[in-house]
Amino acid sequence: MICPSGRLVLWDKKTGKPFEKEFEPSIVLVHDKQKSCEGPLWVRGGVPIESADGSMYESRNRVTLCRCGKSENKPYCDGSHWMNSQQKLEFRKKWGLE
Ligand code: FES
Repeated sequence: MICPSGRLVLWDKKTGKPFEKEFEPSIVLVHDKQKSCEGPLWVRGGVPIESADGSMYESRNRVTLCRCGKSENKPYCDGSHWMNSQQKLEFRKKWGLE
């Protein structure tokens, strides 16, 4: 199991390389079964991402882009698609993000 967003990466200490599957360029609509809601766009394989002002984001093997409009870290998904305001406060407190 890997973190779909790419924020978490496992590294092989012996080789200094990440345990990272190389994805073909693709875009996946994520349905969050666990939370019973629609999730982000899973953009894989180094697909270029351009902001509305024309600047480019770092090209990565995998990122998740918000498609619900609730993220506080757009264009990236921050999990807000499944959290109400109380859950978000608890999540932030749990992970020291206050
Ligand atoms: S899709 Fe996850 S915060 Fe919008």
